[in-house]
Amino acid sequence: MHMFEHLRILSVIIMALARVVLFSLVGAVACFQDLDFPPGFQFGAASSSYQTEGAWNTSDKSESIWDRFVHEKPHLIGDGSTGDIACDSYHLWRRDIEMVSELGLHFYRFSISWTRLVPNGFATHISEDGRTYYDNLINGLLESGVEPMVTLYHWELPQKLQDLGGWTNPLIVDWFGDYARVVYSLFGDRVKTFLTINEPLVMCDLPYNTGTLAPGIVDVVATYMCNKNVLLAHAKAWRIYDEEFRPKYHGEVSITNQLLWFEAATPEDEELAEHAREWMAGRYSHAIFSAEGGWPPVVEKAMAEDSKKKGYPRSTLPAFTKEEIEFVRGTFDFYAVNHYSSRLVRKAKEGEELHPYPLGDIPELAAKLEPHPHWRPTATAIFWLYPEGLHHQLVWLKKRYGDIRFVITENGVATPAGRNDMDRIEYYTEYLKQVLLAIKEGVNVTGYTAWCLMDNFEWSDGYKTKMGLYEVDFSSPERTRTQKASARFYKNLIQKHSLNFKVYADEL
Ligand SMILES: *[C@@H]1O[C@H](CO)[C@@H](O)[C@H](O)[C@H]1NC(C)=O
Ligand SMILES: *[C@@H]1O[C@H](CO)[C@@H](O)[C@H](O)[C@H]1NC(C)=O
Repeated sequence: MHMFEHLRILSVIIMALARVVLFSLVGAVACFQDLDFPPGFQFGAASSSYQTEGAWNTSDKSESIWDRFVHEKPHLIGDGSTGDIACDSYHLWRRDIEMVSELGLHFYRFSISWTRLVPNGFATHISEDGRTYYDNLINGLLESGVEPMVTLYHWELPQKLQDLGGWTNPLIVDWFGDYARVVYSLFGDRVKTFLTINEPLVMCDLPYNTGTLAPGIVDVVATYMCNKNVLLAHAKAWRIYDEEFRPKYHGEVSITNQLLWFEAATPEDEELAEHAREWMAGRYSHAIFSAEGGWPPVVEKAMAEDSKKKGYPRSTLPAFTKEEIEFVRGTFDFYAVNHYSSRLVRKAKEGEELHPYPLGDIPELAAKLEPHPHWRPTATAIFWLYPEGLHHQLVWLKKRYGDIRFVITENGVATPAGRNDMDRIEYYTEYLKQVLLAIKEGVNVTGYTAWCLMDNFEWSDGYKTKMGLYEVDFSSPERTRTQKASARFYKNLIQKHSLNFKVYADEL
């Protein structure tokens, strides 16, 4: 053979090798079925109103606690930014629908802004513009074959209700119920899945323990008042749907919990780790999902002891009455899990400083929370990578609350800016493998939601952290959205209904 022929063959081989960039993590030799999702398994992506809509003072929309918080305390937002315009989805919803169609999503999870739909907080009147906006979005999604999954509350309380105590006022249970009824009656004919409240942990514990999220009030007692009222408000909204709407609309309602997986640092810490799980998952799940209802007994006991030690005349965790326990118990149609990261749990050393939960530790349990030294950090300061944590979490939930159905309603990672987001692809692959493992072990997981559809206002991080499948150019008035490599990966995954596919370099 002529030397040039050798070179040509060599270059053909090199080209072929270069073309097929098969991610080793997708597992070239792994058993095919192991990476296939069960028939009917659904994929979606999520957003939330404050993080994407913008138009914070458009039409008759009123001020929410997040509008107030970012305007008054810009120093608590990483880049001093606001969600005043965000992705401007209020005006660019047609493009958003185009994106979810491009991805081939089965469903799109978004939230309704209470202050946009019901501006005075109380259900005395409905905003026509607010109603039109959500009608357009829901109808557009359905026309594109994408199911809407609607969150009623993603942290934007009307400021007016905050001024009356917000989530610490027990009357919020009725106020939220009234708002929920408005949403069901306007959209329940077309929306079949509702989530009442997003991540009660991050709207009670985090704000009231640290002041770093709206309403920015630090008061540890308020945490537990919020804790109880959220459970009752969810139950109220679930019961309103169950009694007034389910007979004609046949939809489903649940609550979304943010769960960090807790792993014992040493075998001696196993009991403490279990208590920490009850603290984390149990405080917002036991009342709803357990057979007996009410607070998890270990949490009730720990809180009574801690309150006594601190001199409170009674536990700062407000008790449930018998009627309340029955009212909340069983108010679910499935379990919705938001998961991002994990922690190791160990007993605090004598005199060791403990920071307030959930950014730090659990002082009430004398539990120190830390990442494992081998877990890789991410662009979100409080999230480290431990894909196995999601598997352990799902298995634990099933063991604790029985053979119920699970939907992952958020999972994702913050990465540096840019569209070549291989680390996001790796994250989704690794975490989804753990979902498959849980399914194989008999946990009934029927859906998965990528956080998030597009880069948006990430609360305390502002626009510094990027979690989207689509990049958003926040410097352009059009808020131009562009697919990242991860968007093409996700689309492929949905199409193949499997993690077992080749990813070609020129597709990314
Ligand atoms: C709405 O807010 C913007 C700032 O985001 C401000 O410039 C504008 O004047 C406000 N409009 C109204 C009607 O208050
Ligand atoms: C999972 O739950 C759904 C809905 O309840 C049910 O139809 C399905 O049979 C369950 N799958 C398994 C494997 O239990």
